[in-house]
Amino acid sequence: MTEFSGKTVIVTGAGKGIGRAAAMRFAAEGANILAADLDAGLLDETLGLIKKQGGKGIANQVDVTRWTEVQGMVDRALHEFGRVDVLVTSAGILGSNITVQDLSLEEWDRIHAVNLTGVFYCCKAVIPPMARQHAGAIVNMASIAGKEGNPMMAAYSSSKAGVIALTKALGKELAPLGLRVNCIAPSMIDTDMIKTVPDAQREMLKTRVPLGRFGRVEEVAALIRFLASSEASYLTAQCWDCSGGRAVY
Ligand SMILES: NC(=O)c1ccc[n+]([C@@H]2O[C@H](COP(=O)([O-])OP(=O)(O)OC[C@H]3O[C@@H](n4cnc5c(N)ncnc54)[C@H](O)[C@@H]3O)[C@@H](O)[C@H]2O)c1
Repeated sequence: MTEFSGKTVIVTGAGKGIGRAAAMRFAAEGANILAADLDAGLLDETLGLIKKQGGKGIANQVDVTRWTEVQGMVDRALHEFGRVDVLVTSAGILGSNITVQDLSLEEWDRIHAVNLTGVFYCCKAVIPPMARQHAGAIVNMASIAGKEGNPMMAAYSSSKAGVIALTKALGKELAPLGLRVNCIAPSMIDTDMIKTVPDAQREMLKTRVPLGRFGRVEEVAALIRFLASSEASYLTAQCWDCSGGRAVY
């Protein structure tokens, strides 16, 4: 038994990578998981893994850029489990490795729609049930790109800077209601997402990590779990690095 037994955890981007690892971590601790993702096939795999380890969960296909779908996701969690205790927003896209000059207007909008507006929609949708409970924790996935600004990744960097500011604003706004909001800024975590970064750039980025390797999804999931737990009861409206020592401020 852990403090997450019987609690409801919504994880977006749960189809793979960090979101899947977070969903599995909370499931291993007895939580009811609503695993949400755009990709139904990936969600089935995640649910299979959760059930294989004896956990409980449901899959909910969602496009986080669509407000009515996000509302439907939260309604489903309430219908199935009666409450929403934790939201983890891990759905995100990197977009093309491209200069601002070559970046299309559509690509700029698409990246912000998923990475920033999607996070806003998910946070907005869980506030009413969490406020009724006078308890709840939100953990958003930002990125070190949102602190440093990565060349060839202007839209991604900008969207993640937005997630950091949204987290800080919302954390302060919701504190009087007893809700906490934090975000995490990973550097390079070993998932499919970083496989799209060109090899030379990936190796260069690795040399900037004092621990000398990319992070593992389980290491990010451990931080997500901590920030959602009562052990982090005095932590809100903050951005937490998960960078192997790369972050310098
Ligand atoms: N991997 C890293 O090095 C790294 C570093 C910094 C930040 N992050 C952030 O962490 C989060 C998770 O990254 P990851 O490496 O696990 O990525 P990933 O590509 O492995 O997984 C992302 C998941 O999000 C889902 N998704 C994409 N668009 C969606 C949409 N519109 N609606 C619902 N789901 C959608 C995908 O289907 C996928 O399952 C992202 O927000 C990412 O920006 C990752």
